[in-house]
Amino acid sequence: MNYQEFYSQSCQLPEAFWKEQADQIEWYTKPSTILSKDDNDYPLWYKDGELNACYLALDKHIQDGFGDQTAIIYDSPVTQTVKKYTYNEVKTEVAKLAGGMISLGLKKGDTAVIYMPMIPQAAFAMLACARIGVTHSVVFGGFAPHELAIRIDDCKPRLIITASSGIEIDRLIAYKPLVDEAINLAEHKPKKVIVFNRKLGARIPFKKYDVDYDALVYGSEEAECVSVNATHPLYVLYTSGTTGKPKGIVRDTGGYAVALKFSMQHIYGAKQDEVFWAASDVGWVVGHSFIVYGPLINRNTTVIFEGKPIRTPDASTFWRVIAEHKVSIMFTAPTAIRAIKKEDPNGEFIKQYDLSSLRTQFLAGERCDVATLEWYREHIPVPAIDHWWQTESGWPMICNMMGVEYLPIKPGSAGKAVTGYDIRIFGENGQELGSNEEGYVVIKLPLPPGTMLDLWKDNDRFKAGYLNRFPGYYFSGDGGFKDDEDYIFITGRVDDVINVAGHRLSTAEMEEIVSSHHSVAECAVIGINDELKGQVPLALVVNKSGEDIEHFQLQHEVVHLVRDQIGAVASLRDVVIVQRLPKTRSGKILRKLLRSIADGENFQVPSTIDDEAIIDEVREEFIKAKIGSFR
Ligand code: COA
Ligand code: AMP
Repeated sequence: MNYQEFYSQSCQLPEAFWKEQADQIEWYTKPSTILSKDDNDYPLWYKDGELNACYLALDKHIQDGFGDQTAIIYDSPVTQTVKKYTYNEVKTEVAKLAGGMISLGLKKGDTAVIYMPMIPQAAFAMLACARIGVTHSVVFGGFAPHELAIRIDDCKPRLIITASSGIEIDRLIAYKPLVDEAINLAEHKPKKVIVFNRKLGARIPFKKYDVDYDALVYGSEEAECVSVNATHPLYVLYTSGTTGKPKGIVRDTGGYAVALKFSMQHIYGAKQDEVFWAASDVGWVVGHSFIVYGPLINRNTTVIFEGKPIRTPDASTFWRVIAEHKVSIMFTAPTAIRAIKKEDPNGEFIKQYDLSSLRTQFLAGERCDVATLEWYREHIPVPAIDHWWQTESGWPMICNMMGVEYLPIKPGSAGKAVTGYDIRIFGENGQELGSNEEGYVVIKLPLPPGTMLDLWKDNDRFKAGYLNRFPGYYFSGDGGFKDDEDYIFITGRVDDVINVAGHRLSTAEMEEIVSSHHSVAECAVIGINDELKGQVPLALVVNKSGEDIEHFQLQHEVVHLVRDQIGAVASLRDVVIVQRLPKTRSGKILRKLLRSIADGENFQVPSTIDDEAIIDEVREEFIKAKIGSFR
């Protein structure tokens, strides 16, 4: 098939295009209205359709005679376990867990939080919720209790599902005390906590609300799938925004199921029953779309990998998993490849494995730098495909659509617009920019099926953040440009969101936390370039006058404050104490200028700067502290 023709069809006749795609999945009631609009003039897809995502992911394949196919391979180098589950086995466990949830009082329309490591029970929990129409909200296991509490208070779960522990390389992280602490911190109190005991020796303090996962599953009847409307929220997934409060991205059921089925075939080029591996975490959107729902809806075998690209036990892990499980398509973040490259620059480990099953390597989560792409291409003879998307979109927006036509790769570009996404580059005033001009990446409405429905119980923030800036267009928050062949290059966020090892974090939130320290008069947190993680946060702190605290003590306390409140995943290690921060005459902190100084980039001194002398002061502090380009 020809990409250009396919893409043009999707933009010119979106209803016809997405009606045809909707026919690729099974509905309890087929939608008669394909595209309509909500009160914000925002697209609603398939609004009178009825379906169930768990049915599509499991029961459908069993009914079609594929119950014995492996649905999930759990590969855990950290516990030295490999376990396979057939579609029959997954369905039985999920249906019983769903039955157990019903016996605890859960019903369609409720919400449940899932806080789990990368184990199959995390996927079972998600699917069990979907089975009975409970909206799940998975919280990444690396987030601290404070973050979990914020999400509990926002989506008000009736239930939390957790496990006794996660494992970070060589350390056991007891989850249950973290959940208890979060419930303590939160105003909303969930009624029950289901705990899956991994029996790895973690402390599991008992509380009255606890329910044992195994006992619940063992003692429960299987629950059937309930029919939900296409616009029923399958999940809420929180992501970092430009304020301290994370945004609850709401995903519908019908549009998402269609988009995922479409992505598996047309973007990833996955044939049914092939092994598909997204080395991410169920706490991120990649985990939702391409560890759990996408591969299962498409009847692939998905890999749940509990480990890291390095140190579990070494930089050969990825290649071992591909060879051992005959992975056809793999997805990871460029930072993972950079980590492997650092440990094994000559690709010695790669030579030890038979990677002949691998057809395509997809990369996303952050821009794929050219050096990483080149290293990959030098060592592994399969296409390495960068592609761009967001929690908000739920599936790729820019890509080389491998199931349609393999276009030549341009290093540094994430490819061309995916079908259904009419991507434009706008200037400050909403004027469309020409080829190679850098501006805001926006998408003309309607967005295709599967993208965000709203922000959880906060439609005003949804409109303010995404729709009001350029009426009629979705504002992505990223900058970029298109070349004269319509290849799109993403240059980075244009707001206070940073990307640390493929994890999206808010510097505004970190600033709130740093400022809460009693010795901090004011502060700025910025993202600076990092060879391994892409970006890392850097905090600049002005000490309160009269506060008698040693600099090293303050630095240490600030690092720990952020670690305690957000989690180790924030990766804040650098804190620089400065006399004052560069500001405009109206008092705005010049964060972009700070970033340019730290990254050693050329910059123009803003004409609005209050006092130019601060630039040299800050540079000197960076040199002293060996920050960024001064390392
Ligand atoms: N639970 C608890 N802690 C976690 C965690 C989790 N699920 N995930 C990460 N952390 C902790 C780590 O242990 C580390 O703690 P430390 O500071 O005490 O060492 C900290 O958070 C930072 O973790 P991470 O960003 O993973 O850094 P790392 O140095 O341990 O590993 C990489 C670096 C590049 C190997 C790793 O970040 C990686 O694999 N990245 C790929 C990420 C990815 O796939 N993202 C999905 C986007 S598609
Ligand atoms: P998340 O919502 O966590 O998936 O993060 C989305 C953000 O990550 C995007 O807005 C981009 O800033 C960045 N991102 C994701 N994939 C890419 C990519 N392939 N190239 C450049 N940036 C990316």
